[in-house]
Amino acid sequence: MIMRTNIKRVFGLLMMMMVISIASNAQAKKTVYILATGGTIAGQGATEVTAGYKAGAITVDELLSAVPEIKDIANIKAEQVANIGSQDMNDQVWLKLSKRVNELLNQDADAIVITHGTDTQEETAYFLNLTVKSDKPVILVGSMRPSTAISADGPRNIYNAVATAVAPESVGKGVTVVMDDKILGADDLAKTNTLSVGTFQNPNYGPLGIVYNGKPIYTRQSLKRHTINSEFDVTNLSELPRVEIILSYSNATSLFVDAAVKAHVKGIVTAGVGNGNLTTDLQNALEKAVKNHGIAVVRSSRIMTGPTAQWDEINDDQLGFSASWFNNPYRSRVLLMLALTKTKDYKEIQRMFSEY
Ligand code: DGL
Repeated sequence: MIMRTNIKRVFGLLMMMMVISIASNAQAKKTVYILATGGTIAGQGATEVTAGYKAGAITVDELLSAVPEIKDIANIKAEQVANIGSQDMNDQVWLKLSKRVNELLNQDADAIVITHGTDTQEETAYFLNLTVKSDKPVILVGSMRPSTAISADGPRNIYNAVATAVAPESVGKGVTVVMDDKILGADDLAKTNTLSVGTFQNPNYGPLGIVYNGKPIYTRQSLKRHTINSEFDVTNLSELPRVEIILSYSNATSLFVDAAVKAHVKGIVTAGVGNGNLTTDLQNALEKAVKNHGIAVVRSSRIMTGPTAQWDEINDDQLGFSASWFNNPYRSRVLLMLALTKTKDYKEIQRMFSEY
């Protein structure tokens, strides 16, 4: 009788210890929300070897089933925010995503991982870099091969993104992209190759670091304003000012400026030649757009690296233009859209381009 009571006590104790260890382990693991938007990472190909596939074909739960190991390092919660090829990314998804990220980071989320197509990942990353109001890690991840491909890069990228998201040293780094074992800053992100798994680079500053052996190793951090140090807030916005990009090249005319004026755009970013230079026709049309229609103009460059600097061949002050400095045309468009929610003054816009 006594023996049976003792066995019951021991069994009860063992059960209690197991429950406590599971609970403490769960408590010890951080909570990471995975927000899915589509892209190749959620793509499905006809076979494991052919190139063709449909982006955004599988759900976030199907996507995560390919990388069960993330449950060993984090408490995972998942939401489907959209399921599109990122060539169709748009202002409404951006606003929905930024607001949801801020809500979750104000609740039980210790970090956010966003799965996203690679075509416009650099634009979404920079938009979030300027609108997330938390220093908790927010990491975008994509893939260059569909989930059904041999050596699909998505599962490894997702694991690395979650491992980076739960690392204490990832706090305060701004929005990042984790792909191909690299940690890349949203402040200088560019897709540099149409097909390669190593496509994403930080062409001016170099990567923030690497992911090695399931841990992030940081080798630089951003000097640009971002997240909690950003003055931009989309909480009460339901739309964003329309800004278009106009390319310059030999013999470029005023054609697209005239169209932009007719469309009542609020801002124009130019992807100029060299240090943001423009044909005379184009420059004259832009000067009129500023002076006669109050359109904000920011000069950027089609060149991959180096700044679009002030005080060179173009007198920005005389024309009422701003120079983009280290922001390429795509980040410049994002920054000008947000700048125009606060000001139309070109000198104030210039300050913003020097700080973000
Ligand atoms: N449809 C493209 C996109 O969603 C494919 C590129 C990719 O995700 O790798 O961005």
